Amino acid sequence: MTTQTTSQPTATLAPWHRPGRVARVGRLAFGVIFTGGAAIHVAIVITGTETYRHFADTAFIPLVKQLWLSVFMPHAALLGLLLAAFELAVGLLILAGGPRTRLGLLAAIAFHLGLMLFGWGFWFWSVPMLAMLVALLRCDFGKRPGIAAQAADAKEGAMRVLITAATKHGATAEIAATIGQTLRDQAGLDATVVPPEKIATIDGYDAVVLGSAVYAGHWLAPAKELVDRTGGALADRPVWLFSSGPVGDPPKPEEDPVDIAEILAATKAREHRVFAGKLDKRQLGFGERAIVVGLRVPEGDFRDWAEIKGWASQIAHSLRSGA
Ligand SMILES: Cc1cc2nc3c(=O)[nH]c(=O)nc-3n(C[C@H](O)[C@H](O)[C@H](O)COP(=O)(O)O)c2cc1C
Repeated sequence: MTTQTTSQPTATLAPWHRPGRVARVGRLAFGVIFTGGAAIHVAIVITGTETYRHFADTAFIPLVKQLWLSVFMPHAALLGLLLAAFELAVGLLILAGGPRTRLGLLAAIAFHLGLMLFGWGFWFWSVPMLAMLVALLRCDFGKRPGIAAQAADAKEGAMRVLITAATKHGATAEIAATIGQTLRDQAGLDATVVPPEKIATIDGYDAVVLGSAVYAGHWLAPAKELVDRTGGALADRPVWLFSSGPVGDPPKPEEDPVDIAEILAATKAREHRVFAGKLDKRQLGFGERAIVVGLRVPEGDFRDWAEIKGWASQIAHSLRSGA
């Protein structure tokens, strides 16, 4: 079992919780729609701006149609290109991630509200778009009740720490929850516990505690995939890693998970800690139980809560002291 130390700067970032896969797909879709919209405007300007002439014919506010014909049409090429630039910027902002996505989503909402002035027909397109944009924005503000409840425990302006751990049968998730609780209760840190598969980006967190249960010598895929998705961002802030797996007294196996060297390198983590795990045969599937029985792996809960809380306290101390 290893303990590795590297020095990391302490990052201070704006609050920014991330949604899961659905939100990522939504962001990608809107990014593509808006950059595609920009391309359409460029094509119209190139092929002939008369295409724009009847755009405001169905506007239900007469002033909109008048302004379109008297202001937009005389400068249609220039304003068409400006529209293209705007839509391109909105698309790129939405794709960019972090606070820029939020700005892009707000601009996209403003765009669709404006579009609705051009007639009821546009409402068939803009109303569903607005519903999806607002839903994406709500995801980005981290409105999930679990997260909101955890945030409510934190002190105003406290350092934001993300605790995330991959688990198959729940034992490692309980370790993550205990680390989060310790960081909140003992150090007043704004600690949020989120499963790795629900994290698209770690923007907004000042530090990260990342862990996984170990199976057949390896970390679970959701934790490794989080490193793949956010490796660069993890390396930019203080990160602590933990693995949970060894069972028995003394806990075995003693070797580190095989992928930990690579994960340490990718995240530039300050430390990797191995905690003993829990094995309850009743929770296992047929294949897992066969392995455990075949290898005579001892059953029981070997997690050392004092050790886990002590490690969380060390993390809190080093974050609070800026070490
Ligand atoms: C089929 C199987 C294979 C396992 N392989 C390992 C292993 O290679 N190394 C290890 O340390 N623990 C191993 N474990 C123990 C688990 O990592 C341990 O039970 C852990 O606490 C489970 O965490 P979870 O409930 O969060 O999934 C294995 C457990 C099972 C059931």
